[in-house]
Amino acid sequence: MKIAIIKEPDTAESRVAGTPDTVKKLMTRGFEVCVETGAGVASAISDTDFEAAGASIAKNASSALKDADVVLAVRRPDTLVKHFKSGAVLVCQLDPYGHEEALQRFADAGVMTCAMELMPRVTRAQVMDVLSSQANLAGYQAVIEASHTYGRALPMMMTAAGTVPAAKIFVMGAGVAGLQAIATARRMGAVVTATDVRPAAKEQVASLGAKFVAVEDDEFKAAETAGGYAKEMSKEYQAKQAELVATHIAKQDIVITTALIPGRPAPRLISASMVEAMRAGSVIVDMAVERGGNCELAKPGEIVMHQGVLIVGKLNLAGEIAATASQLYAKNLAAFVEILVKSEEDSLHVSLADELVTAVTVTREGAIVHPQFQPKEANA
Ligand code: NAI
Repeated sequence: MKIAIIKEPDTAESRVAGTPDTVKKLMTRGFEVCVETGAGVASAISDTDFEAAGASIAKNASSALKDADVVLAVRRPDTLVKHFKSGAVLVCQLDPYGHEEALQRFADAGVMTCAMELMPRVTRAQVMDVLSSQANLAGYQAVIEASHTYGRALPMMMTAAGTVPAAKIFVMGAGVAGLQAIATARRMGAVVTATDVRPAAKEQVASLGAKFVAVEDDEFKAAETAGGYAKEMSKEYQAKQAELVATHIAKQDIVITTALIPGRPAPRLISASMVEAMRAGSVIVDMAVERGGNCELAKPGEIVMHQGVLIVGKLNLAGEIAATASQLYAKNLAAFVEILVKSEEDSLHVSLADELVTAVTVTREGAIVHPQFQPKEANA
């Protein structure tokens, strides 16, 4: 059985879905692994490294995908759908929300697609949790970017030439990325505050040595779904939150926003007038920019200057530390492949009975099968 690891068609994507370590692991399970030439270059992995691990190197995407039973990728490779063999399984971050047409093309081509971001957050699936592995690194990288853009020191320094005050950093959204941003900012010596709408976040923020700032009313006490995610808050809550944020934000040097609600646009937490209340030279890093942004003025892929405040809208922060991000992402995928297919069998046998496989399967046997992504008319 053949596993293909492709070079990401989007040149802005620096990560790769396999590493020499995961190639070796997959091969010990009886798979043949084929890597498209150059797939690992942006993650500092050469073709020779992959070959040394036992992979064959394909000269282009079509030969990598030819006869591949399982295809590993970072993002949904829309431009390559014609090269997949019917019956192949694509494992990647499928980004299915709002992309039903692209999903249908994979379904029409007979490709079974598995969206790794739909992996349930249960103990057995932690090793396959791409959202956590990548958000963790992105949270770290957000602080690095912020500190680089800020142009001042983060820790307090007492020198003969005077005292440098510690930077004040406010982290909005204390999920995986936010908690790592808090931990990184604390390690770098900043004075850190953080907010979230989930009450569970309060203790986690405090355990990292940061101060929790939030509207803690009755709605807040019930804001977490059974799956551990945030709910979309009412207009009344949003107004109270905005008032609190407006006064707090004006005193901050750096704000890092990470707030997301699954399947919804990112909540708008920072208005233009809040940005205008910040001191010139302050920095906002909007990690939610890909999903519409937490800051009204953030632009995807750009750094915007507004009245002296720099608003960083970098996409793919995890991709900025691609070698590390690929190492973790590839491990997540290799762990999933182990439960996805039985390698000892000659023909592809997908473990459809496994609840984790069911949870991430979006297309199969020519149709979109995941209940959340049914075509509109089927839902009506
Ligand atoms: P996420 O990426 O969906 O959202 C980021 C954060 O934004 C969340 O903490 C969310 O509560 C917050 N947020 C949403 N709306 C907000 C608003 N209006 N104002 C302020 N903050 C807002 O979340 P992520 O990082 O994926 O984590 C979601 C949950 O999953 C957390 O409870 C986390 O601890 C849990 N988790 C569980 C794992 C497990 O294996 N059991 C693994 C990883 C995460």
